Amino acid sequence: MTTPAQGPDGPLDPVAPIEPQTGGVPTARPSVPTPVAAPADGRPSAAGGHSITVRDLHAYYGDVHAIRGVSIDYAPNQVTGMIGPSGCGKSTVLRCLNRMHEEIVGARATGTVLLDDADIYAKEVDVVAVRRAVGMVFQKPNPFPTMSIFDNVAAGVKLAGAKKGDTKELVEKSLRGAGLWDEVKDRLDEPGIGLSGGQQQRLCIARTIAVEPEVILMDEPCSALDPIATLKIEELIHELKTEFTIIIVTHNMQQAARVADSTGFFLLGELIEFDSTETIFTNPGDSRTEEYVSGKFG
Ligand SMILES: Nc1ncnc2c1ncn2[C@@H]1O[C@H](COP(=O)(O)OP(=O)(O)OP(=O)(O)O)[C@@H](O)[C@H]1O
Ligand SMILES: [Mg+2]
Repeated sequence: MTTPAQGPDGPLDPVAPIEPQTGGVPTARPSVPTPVAAPADGRPSAAGGHSITVRDLHAYYGDVHAIRGVSIDYAPNQVTGMIGPSGCGKSTVLRCLNRMHEEIVGARATGTVLLDDADIYAKEVDVVAVRRAVGMVFQKPNPFPTMSIFDNVAAGVKLAGAKKGDTKELVEKSLRGAGLWDEVKDRLDEPGIGLSGGQQQRLCIARTIAVEPEVILMDEPCSALDPIATLKIEELIHELKTEFTIIIVTHNMQQAARVADSTGFFLLGELIEFDSTETIFTNPGDSRTEEYVSGKFG
């Protein structure tokens, strides 16, 4: 097992060597070499988006059984929120969705994770391709510290080995997509870390979308930001879902209510309830969900 190329807050290094998962994850359906496949019914979704289907996911850190039989459907071109008290397993589930969990020494997972129809844990699947298809934005903005704004975005493409094209064009498109272009277009050669926290987070989102992923995972992307920067990211998430499927972990109930179409409530490694965000916040079926969303614990 290799030392993790990064901690949960570190930049994804998709070129790091990764051991294949062994002996754990069954293939629920015939798998394909790369995790990019047509949806189960063979037709693209209305907006051409991609789904993630999780079945009976268990995740472990050594002897610690952190995730206990989670099954959940992340719908295409929707924002799915994941809420629950600290330590309930939200980040662990997220990391299982792009095979980052196995990067942690002693960590393993069993169960099935399908990106559209493709089992991302199937033996022949290229882990780098999984992480290109399922990008991640972290809690703390993490621009590459020595790189310019331009190079930060371009680096995402280079690291992921994405298809070559006009880099300038792609950088501009990605910065526009992240709602940052107008603020940085005259200072592209300046260091990425010279931006404000909110701008840095949008730079990281630009770096992620430059790779043209299908799904974007966000682990508390606004927790280090002030309310105005938070609002900008939330507006951005709303725009991004027309193009991407978004899964966001948040501790902020108002944020979940504002951005998520559906929300899952997790407790002690289990998914307690998953429903439309409105139902979760106004008429949950489980008393534990009700207690959590009304602030009685957590
Ligand atoms: N690298 C690790 N090594 C060992 N145990 C871990 C590791 N990361 C998480 N865990 C354990 O797995 C469980 C789930 O942790 P996880 O980080 O997924 O929770 P979380 O819901 O994201 O919490 P938070 O809201 O505080 O970020 C916890 O019991 C935690 O202690
Ligand atoms: Mg977490």
